[in-house]
Amino acid sequence: MRVLASAPAKIILFGEHSVVYGKPAIAAAINLRTYVWAEFNESGAIKIEAKDIRVPGLTVSFSEDEIYFESDYGKAAEVLSYVRQAIELVREEADKNGKGITVSITSQIPVGAGLGSSAAVAVATIGAVSRLLGLELTNEEIGKLGHRVELLVQGASSGIDPTVSAIGGFIHYEKGKFEHLPFMELPIVVGYTGSSGSTKELVAMVRRTREEMPEIIEPILLSMGKIVERAREILLSDLDEKVRFERLGRLMNINHGLLDALGVSTKKLSELVYAARTAGALGAKITGAGGGGCMYALAPEKQSEVATAITIAGGTPMITEISREGLRIE
Ligand code: PMV
Repeated sequence: MRVLASAPAKIILFGEHSVVYGKPAIAAAINLRTYVWAEFNESGAIKIEAKDIRVPGLTVSFSEDEIYFESDYGKAAEVLSYVRQAIELVREEADKNGKGITVSITSQIPVGAGLGSSAAVAVATIGAVSRLLGLELTNEEIGKLGHRVELLVQGASSGIDPTVSAIGGFIHYEKGKFEHLPFMELPIVVGYTGSSGSTKELVAMVRRTREEMPEIIEPILLSMGKIVERAREILLSDLDEKVRFERLGRLMNINHGLLDALGVSTKKLSELVYAARTAGALGAKITGAGGGGCMYALAPEKQSEVATAITIAGGTPMITEISREGLRIE
């Protein structure tokens, strides 16, 4: 028996970083996916094979016979720590039958780009392995297990990434609880800087700054939460599409300015953000932890102009769609 599961990447539309401090955030699954095959093997060991893992500048394939390993593949090896934790968590839930498990991964999601590659691999692995072991878990339960994987691997996590990857569509997320927002097509362009930031380090940096100057940072986090509430109202409203996009765009620009104030933007990210706005985007901001990774722009009727501007500014544009589907057993 061989089980194939897949889970999508995501973008955080509003509220990254402030979501770590209990403020709400809005995220959406996008149509880049990670695929995980799981099957039993007779050796009794856990084997992980990763093909086509995209890290900035290269695509790597490798396999590891032993789950406890040291690897020189840097960022790509980080992927395996999520897979390892995911398999161990699922094995704890299931009766051990003594058989080994082989997991093969292939992914369309660049690693460390702020698109939730780690959450997608954790969710897809939990999905495939739990089905192989005969566990009946809902996507919501798998999202929660994905959050536990993130906490084990990276120490701090709001849980928004594994939740949206498991559930799909648009979600409003606050303190572990999510609400589905109505599905809509958003004319967005994602711009990849080509370099990656460490979510763990950026979250730790924001935490230190907040401890050092709470009277300055707290109001910024509070404003970010208010932006999310406004954005939620707009997404739920029956406003004309044009007005809706204009208002969301303005909120994106304010959110980007606040993220910059927290210190998580980079020269390249800001260049891509300004290039997108100059080319006609109604709004543009960082998506995810920052420090490299990706930005996104809202660009109705201007997606190709904005994509060209991102390329000229030295980034890689991805015209992507929101994915209704979260975790899927193929
Ligand atoms: O993993 P990333 O780069 O998409 O960032 C996650 C968003 C943060 O708010 C920075 C962290 C978190 O756990 O919510």
